[in-house]
Amino acid sequence: MVNLSIQLAPKHPRGLLLANPVMTASGTFGYGTEYSHLFDIQKLGAIVCKGTTLEPRDGNPQPRLAETAGGLLNSIGLENIGINALIKEKAPIWASWHVPVIVNIAGETVGDYTRLASQLDGVAGISGLEVNISCPNIKAGGAEFGANPDSAAEVTTAVRKATSLPMLVKLTPNTSDIAKVAEAVAEAGADAISLINTLKGMAIDIAKRRPLLGNITGGLSGPAIKPVALYMVYEVAGAVDLPIIGCGGITTASDALEFIMAGASAIQVGTASFTDPRAPLDVLEGIEQFMKKEGIENISELVGAARR
Ligand code: SIN
Repeated sequence: MVNLSIQLAPKHPRGLLLANPVMTASGTFGYGTEYSHLFDIQKLGAIVCKGTTLEPRDGNPQPRLAETAGGLLNSIGLENIGINALIKEKAPIWASWHVPVIVNIAGETVGDYTRLASQLDGVAGISGLEVNISCPNIKAGGAEFGANPDSAAEVTTAVRKATSLPMLVKLTPNTSDIAKVAEAVAEAGADAISLINTLKGMAIDIAKRRPLLGNITGGLSGPAIKPVALYMVYEVAGAVDLPIIGCGGITTASDALEFIMAGASAIQVGTASFTDPRAPLDVLEGIEQFMKKEGIENISELVGAARR
């Protein structure tokens, strides 16, 4: 038997213990419920739900998705059911699961984040928050907050005061120094840091001679961004003393192991779920097989192995 369990919030009074390091990335796995008939999602380490706002949102104009070489551009614009429906309809289902569910929260103002955090505090079925200061597809807030250390810290400090839940903060790569943002967020009370969200990009429809996405720009995810994400995880893991959750183009167990060896305690599978909904489970099984083959008893032996 190998020990895959990971403590994601060691500094938090209750902690956030995951049975294994494989999580789903926000926005790529709905509310988990959509996938529960496809495989045993309870085997995963944690599920992170779609970015949630105070009010329901319809999102950006279509088209909102474009495939690129090795990647996917999205400009969804945080289409979601809103916090009230989440608390009423989704949380009771999650409360019957043993896999922890983490709610990704997104806002246009600091007040939006604190209201979301305080409304979710103490709701059965919610094990933690992922503070999304990294969505590139909304007119205000989102990645604006994550682009510099001061505004990232401001949101983190405010959410910390508003919740007793373990708090992950999800960073954007669209910044000049992600390690500085990570340091600010760590100082402001984050329990863990997830990175990276999508890289800002665009595509042009040459027949129409117009931007392809209705929102003009979008966020790039998928294998194309993996080397960038890996580098940023390596940088951030060297800058802060907090668990890191690596995300960005992870498709296989080898990809996941690269992130873990770069310093990630856990990883999120995102875009890969669109082509193969079982991808997170395959990644988990592949990590386990690797550990058995290499005679590694505890996943923590691999965390940061490439840094030593
Ligand atoms: C979106 O809904 O536009 C993507 C969410 C995100 O990047 O956080």
